[in-house]
This record gives sequence, C-alpha cells and structure tokens, in this order.
Amino acid sequence: MTNVLITGANRGLGLGFVKKFLDKNVNVLCTTRNIAGSKKLLACKEKHPDNLEILELDLLEENSENTLSNLLSDKPVDIFINNAGMMGSSAQNFNAVSAEPWLEVLKVNLIAPLLITQSIIDNVKKGFDRKIYFLSSRVGSIEDNSGGGRYIYRSSKTALNQVVKSLSIDLKELGITVISLHPGWVRTDMGGPNALISVDESINGMMSVIEKTDIKNTGQFLNYDGNEIPW
Ligand SMILES: NC(=O)c1ccc[n+]([C@@H]2O[C@H](COP(=O)([O-])OP(=O)(O)OC[C@H]3O[C@@H](n4cnc5c(N)ncnc54)[C@H](OP(=O)(O)O)[C@@H]3O)[C@@H](O)[C@H]2O)c1
Repeated sequence: MTNVLITGANRGLGLGFVKKFLDKNVNVLCTTRNIAGSKKLLACKEKHPDNLEILELDLLEENSENTLSNLLSDKPVDIFINNAGMMGSSAQNFNAVSAEPWLEVLKVNLIAPLLITQSIIDNVKKGFDRKIYFLSSRVGSIEDNSGGGRYIYRSSKTALNQVVKSLSIDLKELGITVISLHPGWVRTDMGGPNALISVDESINGMMSVIEKTDIKNTGQFLNYDGNEIPW
C-alpha cells in the first residue's frame, strides 16, 4: 500500500491532503506541532485507525530533521508532500522588514524542507513512487512579480524553488521526482476568506497533478491545475 508523508497536517491544505488520501485508502503518515491539540486529525484517526499515523514535529525546533527521521525509522515513503509553511509577520514591505521574523520564515519555508529531505531520503528511496512535492507559491515567481513588497514570504518561496531545481537534478539518477507546486490562492488561515478557491478545489487539482506527474516532470513549477508557472 502507498505511504504518503505530509507535513503541517492539522489545518488548511495539509489537513485537506490527509482527508483526500485517506478517502483513497492510502496509508498516511502526517506531522503536526501538537498531537493533543490537533482535534481534526484525531477525528480522522478515529475514522481510519489503521491508515493514519500522526507524528509530532515543529520545524523551528533544532534538529527537527533528525526527529522526523527517527520517528519514521525504516518505513518507506512513496510520496512526500512538504506542505508546512508560514507567511510570517505583517511587516513585509520596504522599510518595514527586520531580520528576526525573516529568519524564522526562512527556517520553516526553506531550510527545514531541504534538511528534512536530506534526512529521510533513504525512506523515499525505499518507496515505489519516489515522488517529492514542495508547496511553493506563485508569489515566489520572479517573472510573475508585478506587485513588489512581501519581501519575507516571496523570498522564502523563490529560494525554495531554487532548492527544488537543484534537488530535481541531484536526485534524478535515483529516479526521484521533485516538483514545486502552487496550490492556487486558497481559503485557509493563510490565504484568508477572500481567496479565490476552496481547499477542496485546490486539493482535487493537486491530487490530479500528483497522479499524472513522474520523473519526466521533475524540476517543474506547476500550478494546481497542472499548468507550468514561470520561475
Ligand atoms: N493558502 C494559500 O493561498 C497558499 C498559496 C500559496 C502557497 N501556499 C502554501 O501552501 C502551504 C500550506 O498553506 P495553508 O494555506 O494550508 O496554510 P495554513 O492554513 O496557515 O497552515 C499552515 C500549516 O503549516 C504548519 N506550520 C507552520 N509553522 C510550522 C512549524 N514551525 N513547524 C511545523 N509546522 C508548521 C501549521 O501548523 P500549526 O497549525 O501548528 O501552526 C499548519 O499546519 C504553505 O507552504 C503555504 O505557503 C498557500
């Protein structure tokens, strides 16, 4: 049975992925910062006791990559979805940005995803599908930037895209597919109530992208509808 690993799974898109994969009878390993407080995930666990494993992981904690690797032990991971992410402080415009909140966002959105990928690569190698997806954002596209500002979040996702590109090249000979995914502007805590699409629309689109993509697509930056986004 396919094993899917999803980070940041207690709300928003992460929770949406968990529910959708469980509906497909896939085995889900997911992470949350606080198991006891993750009521919606615990409700999923009651419904699917054999198919869902909830692991505790905070990407801001030192050595979080080793924590995850220890929790996974030698389990194969067929599909790894690096979903956890943060927007950061509201002070993101010119003249407002400061270092501390920027470093925090870089740790969660950029550095931890690569360190985690390094530390669990043997689990992915043991998997059948060998696919890794990083939740990026269109606002990380340099070509698409016509609005300026949002220095912290934008730069974290632009740099993540560069990490994805290098990983796609470095892992190609292992047959591991690495893709950057834009979920759309989605009505979650991060996207806000005025966002254009629902969690369901975004997840349905991304699930179809995940099903259809393989090593021939490695190194692409894809929208939830499957279209390529310029870097
Ligand atoms: N929503 C959009 O419109 C949109 C657009 C483009 C890209 N994205 C990307 O899509 C991904 C999911 O976004 P979302 O809308 O679902 O966001 P969300 O509703 O804000 O949820 C973010 C998730 O990330 C987790 N997280 C944050 N900091 C963490 C940390 N230090 N360690 C571990 N987990 C952490 C959160 O856990 P807690 O609940 O514990 O805080 C939560 O589960 C993100 O990477 C985001 O950048 C979203």
